[in-house]
Amino acid sequence: MQARHNHCDPLGETGVEELAQSDPQVWAEFFRETSQKELDNLTRERQHMARQRGTTDLSHAGASLAKEDFVAARLPLLQASTHPSYCYTSREFYELEVERIFLREWLCVGRVDQVEKPGDYFTLRLLGESLVVVRDREGEIRVLSTVCRHRGMEIVEGAGARRSFECPYHGWTYSLRGELMGAPEMEKTENFDKRQCQLPSLRAESWEGFIFVNFDLQAQPLGPALAGLSQQLKNYKLSEMRSIEPLVYDCNWNWKIMVENMMECYHHLGLHRDTVEPLMPGRLTTTEDLDGAYAIMHLPTIEQDVGLSGQGSYVKRMEALSLLPVIEGLSPEERGKAIVFTVYPTHMVILTPDSMIYYQAFPEGADRMTLRITLCVPPSTMERPDVAQSLKQARDFIVMFNNQDMWACESVQRGLSSRLARPGRYCHLEKAIWQISRYVMRRVLETEDTAYDDPSAKEASDS
Ligand code: FES
Ligand SMILES: [Fe+2]
Repeated sequence: MQARHNHCDPLGETGVEELAQSDPQVWAEFFRETSQKELDNLTRERQHMARQRGTTDLSHAGASLAKEDFVAARLPLLQASTHPSYCYTSREFYELEVERIFLREWLCVGRVDQVEKPGDYFTLRLLGESLVVVRDREGEIRVLSTVCRHRGMEIVEGAGARRSFECPYHGWTYSLRGELMGAPEMEKTENFDKRQCQLPSLRAESWEGFIFVNFDLQAQPLGPALAGLSQQLKNYKLSEMRSIEPLVYDCNWNWKIMVENMMECYHHLGLHRDTVEPLMPGRLTTTEDLDGAYAIMHLPTIEQDVGLSGQGSYVKRMEALSLLPVIEGLSPEERGKAIVFTVYPTHMVILTPDSMIYYQAFPEGADRMTLRITLCVPPSTMERPDVAQSLKQARDFIVMFNNQDMWACESVQRGLSSRLARPGRYCHLEKAIWQISRYVMRRVLETEDTAYDDPSAKEASDS
């Protein structure tokens, strides 16, 4: 079966139609209704909490979110302030983000090389849902709920390869497309129709070898929104990259703190003074003026071919024993920098001349998320005899600077939880964070906060 590694191949469009026809519980509607009820409850809870605590920042959140709290956040970069701290701590604000961002946007769940052959699968939890990502017999990638249509046991855990999924509880068996194939001893059950017992499926789309899912059946396809990014990154041949076993962390901070940490290099001057800053000086970083589905930064390096495995001057500092080779086909300019981009809301990628690292933030609450960090390299790199040593070295470097980042993120979460926390001002090196803040406002406040509609905003952010 042909593995699908190409750009922008929408997957499961037919599955969506089938679901709408065969399953009365159309997921998008279900989630919308649930979210509204949840919000109503939260509003009542918020009012109760406000009465108990007196006037607190939380009184602004929930369904009565006050747009006036964001007046300073909506100004041009060098005049703007960061979001109110409750955006990072309040359960109500998080619930709004779930409803207005996470249930509507494309979320990266992994790479296509994790499900290379028909029957290959892996499971994950996303926004409280247990899902299985599987390549079906026709070669399509499907993302299915694992919740058995009988009495709800999760039909599969972990990862592996299967011809079908058999629920361990009573033996109902589902195809790789989620159709109920067998249900023992159900012949006597009246009006039992196996066709009505399909596992719900989410929309899935692959982009550059990443698998994205969307809970919203009406969402616009992802590929067209990222066409410019694909073109810009074509020399890296992202779709061909091979994934290495990820690093996984339980994190007690808000997802935006993680994304913001990724999307500014100002902190190279402080937090990474001795690690990343000597290779990629924060002051040299630039951010493109963009308003669409992603933000992107360019990080010039102190010399060519600075990568994760000890290329360039880092090799001298670390006395590296082996090196990852530079990605074939990069231009001299690309060999002299790193690129960091975020596809909103949570897909974060670092490109260096020898590899790619992608971060997945899986939000689990206002102050909780799971972080997965996956190193990826070209197929030719995997064939080198010394690859294990090089990968270990790259991984060690990732762990080292990521530990610094996580220390800061955890501390920021504690800081923003303080009653005394107040919005801060941006440095000119934090343009991408300002862009992200406008994205969050567009979605959560349902405003038109584009960064560059007003030409004076662009001029102010550039000055
Ligand atoms: S819960 Fe799955 S077969 Fe009964
Ligand atoms: Fe960092």
